[in-house]
Amino acid sequence: MTTPTTALPILSLADTDPADQAVDAVVIGVHSQEGSNGTPGELLLASGAESIAAAFDGKLTSTLTLLGATGGPGEVTKIATMGVITAPLLVVVGLGPEPTGAAPAAETLRRAAASAVRALAGSKSVAVALPLSDDASDSGTHALRAVTEGAALGAYRFPGYKGKPQTSRKEPVGLISVLVPDAKETGAQTELHRAGVVASAVARTRDWVNVPGNMLRPPGFAEEIAEAAGKAGLEVEVLDDAALAKGGYGGILAVGSGSEAKPRMVRLTYTPPETVAATKKLALIGKGITFDTGGVSIKPAQGMWEMKSDMAGAAAVASVMVALTELRPLLQVSAFIPIAENMLSGEAYRPGDVVTMRNGKRVEVLNTDAEGRMILGDAIARACEDNPDYLIETSTLTGGQVVALGKRIAGVMGSDELCQRAKVAGDAVGEPTWPMPLPDEIRKSMESDVADILQVSAGMERSGHMLQGGIFLREFVTDGVEWAHIDVAGPSFHSGEPTGYLSKGGTGVPVRTLLALVDDLAANG
Ligand code: BES
Ligand code: MN
Ligand code: ZN
Repeated sequence: MTTPTTALPILSLADTDPADQAVDAVVIGVHSQEGSNGTPGELLLASGAESIAAAFDGKLTSTLTLLGATGGPGEVTKIATMGVITAPLLVVVGLGPEPTGAAPAAETLRRAAASAVRALAGSKSVAVALPLSDDASDSGTHALRAVTEGAALGAYRFPGYKGKPQTSRKEPVGLISVLVPDAKETGAQTELHRAGVVASAVARTRDWVNVPGNMLRPPGFAEEIAEAAGKAGLEVEVLDDAALAKGGYGGILAVGSGSEAKPRMVRLTYTPPETVAATKKLALIGKGITFDTGGVSIKPAQGMWEMKSDMAGAAAVASVMVALTELRPLLQVSAFIPIAENMLSGEAYRPGDVVTMRNGKRVEVLNTDAEGRMILGDAIARACEDNPDYLIETSTLTGGQVVALGKRIAGVMGSDELCQRAKVAGDAVGEPTWPMPLPDEIRKSMESDVADILQVSAGMERSGHMLQGGIFLREFVTDGVEWAHIDVAGPSFHSGEPTGYLSKGGTGVPVRTLLALVDDLAANG
């Protein structure tokens, strides 16, 4: 069974009056204001809402107050318009306090647009009139990008596998029109296109992450990636288990040995429209464990089901590669995606095993649940054979990431400068990332008596847990390659109720960080 793909809404721009939109609902924003002594003050309608405020004869803020609105971020208030404006429903979304001088932060707009669109499931068409500054400055384009991206992602819903049609479930919004000062301007059209491509890449990643482990096993996942990539015009190569054995990919084979569904490695290549001598080379790598039981070092049953998401890095990298064929950056990008299922059987690898990796290094296995670094070591070594300038790897690598930074902030380790650029890229798109160190003493605790390196620190599996992962991966990066390892164990999966543009399940992190980094590397080398 192939992964169901979620259809995103059709996006368009309009520069006509929000009060005249022939749509099911219009979305505007409202700011909270502090009154005296910190009490809630009067509400302040956000820019974009002027003509609607006028149509309501100045009574809109008092009506909102009557309905209990406070203007807090993400708060959604619906008002039946009874013919006062063309659309029958007005949706007012909270934006928090009005920022002084500048337009609201991109992330505030992204979340607000998403909250409004999610609350409108069941409506066919929605017009969004949130504050976008009308100058062509950076903040203007970023605001348009954020609103469009947020609105598209707010309409995301994984279709699932229910037999009976669900009467309680409303269809996501099908048409979204974003109201801008000048819709025909090419800059605005470029932003709309980009937001659509980005939202599709995020949705594709979420779909793959949300598919259960029995429906997405290594050969099938490799095939789905190959199909999507082939359709998009990328060059595709899939190594099956025989090819992996021939190529000496000991880490991928060891992890895959416990499963009937054999491991794979997918290689995708994007070639820019023009390649000049200076065009830099980037390698992307993503962890593709379709299900992680822990293997012989089995995980506790509690929450193990979430390990269907242990291929979030692979899904993100594959989706980013497809997106590149639309965004066409001037950068050479290759992806290496190792895919395996970490199971137990009579053939499974065991603690104490010594495994010879693709680059010839020997690893002493101590815990079969630290399987990610085994498949990634091989993929990183292979990627370095092509002499990239930059190597960015992302994985749901350690529970230590969640302990240290929580569910929303990714950890990044590697070359200082690239880590810094990853932080800037992540912060700009609402996927916060924090640089972490790779201390020498942890490398020392990974000395093996019988092999080149231990897979985890002996007897200290919990100490500097996330950093051990980064230090292990560094062994497979060729000297001189700028690299970054982004651990997204927490941020790639959302277990709570939907909020902002996050739905339950896969989040699509770090797709938007990777696309922002690609932009940065293509523009600045
Ligand atoms: N896939 C897990 C890491 C993970 C944990 C991802 C929680 C998402 C949420 C990884 O393969 C793993 O099991 N790591 C072990 C490493 C340990 C055995 C050194 C862990 O985190 O406990
Ligand atoms: Mn594991
Ligand atoms: Zn894992």
